[in-house]
Amino acid sequence: MTFHAQHLLGIEHLAPAGITALLDRADRYVAFNRGGAKHADSLAGMTQINMFFEPSTRTQASFELAGKRLGADVMSMAMQASSLTKGETLIDTAMTLNAMHPDLLVVRHPNSGAVDLLAQKVTCAVLNAGDGRHEHPTQALLDALTIRRAKGRLHRLTVAICGDIAHSRVARSNIWLLGKMENRIRLVGPPTLMPAAAAELGVEVTDDMRAGLADADVVMMLRLQRERMDGGFVPSEREYYHRFGLDADKLAHAAPDAIVMHPGPMNRGIEIDGTLADDINRSVIQDQVEMGVAVRMAAMELLAENLRAARAEAAHG
Ligand code: NCD
Repeated sequence: MTFHAQHLLGIEHLAPAGITALLDRADRYVAFNRGGAKHADSLAGMTQINMFFEPSTRTQASFELAGKRLGADVMSMAMQASSLTKGETLIDTAMTLNAMHPDLLVVRHPNSGAVDLLAQKVTCAVLNAGDGRHEHPTQALLDALTIRRAKGRLHRLTVAICGDIAHSRVARSNIWLLGKMENRIRLVGPPTLMPAAAAELGVEVTDDMRAGLADADVVMMLRLQRERMDGGFVPSEREYYHRFGLDADKLAHAAPDAIVMHPGPMNRGIEIDGTLADDINRSVIQDQVEMGVAVRMAAMELLAENLRAARAEAAHG
């Protein structure tokens, strides 16, 4: 087995072989999820707790479905109603849940690094469902699976990642993953939304959509993350759409068979034209959602296998 990790906290420390093993496993679950009887038992007897400290639709729903389809006992905490509102710290909450012996803990948190910290305190496998602007590993993995299935490979592609890069954990995880797989990455967006260290990431950077999209095989759009902005990052939504919004005109600069991606939730008419987003000949946005369930099934199953092996070893040694 080539996926050795104890937790899935980010893409940064994964090896290419581990990524490929996870995607291969996920590929099998895509077919499984299209079948009639979507029930397996590889997580039977295991308890999965989802803790989302930030709003989420597709990530939370797909982690929940993924666990249920593999037979886990799944509980999603309503974090707004938890003791955190009474002043309990994240770590105290995690320790409390840990005492109930969960096997898988899925966590989304607004602070970068919070999930890593939590993973050091608990005895179960932790999956990062997005921490601040740091990482969102399962999103990058589901994007990779979507690309691999659409393009037939996951290397030597030109990928344009466009928009609000600075605030995006999706961009950061994708840069790690696509870079490890030897793709050419271009970051496209206004300088105010570019991370300071963009140039050190081994990527090309431009604020010109047409140049950035030139001959791209994959065009990945990002949401303008207003909740993470505290000032004037963009002039007006109209101006932003004009310069950076993806429409048929700008897409015409990409390769003729380029695919259009977006992690959701989308701001139609701000970062992407609504008609283009719905164009099933170009947009793979719904495929991304479908791949999300399969990737999360694969990730939890691999971590559960590693957890069982570690427990067995501890019991014998
Ligand atoms: C993303 C996230 O939460 O990081 N959404 C998602 O998980 N599909 C991207 C975003 O919020 O823009």
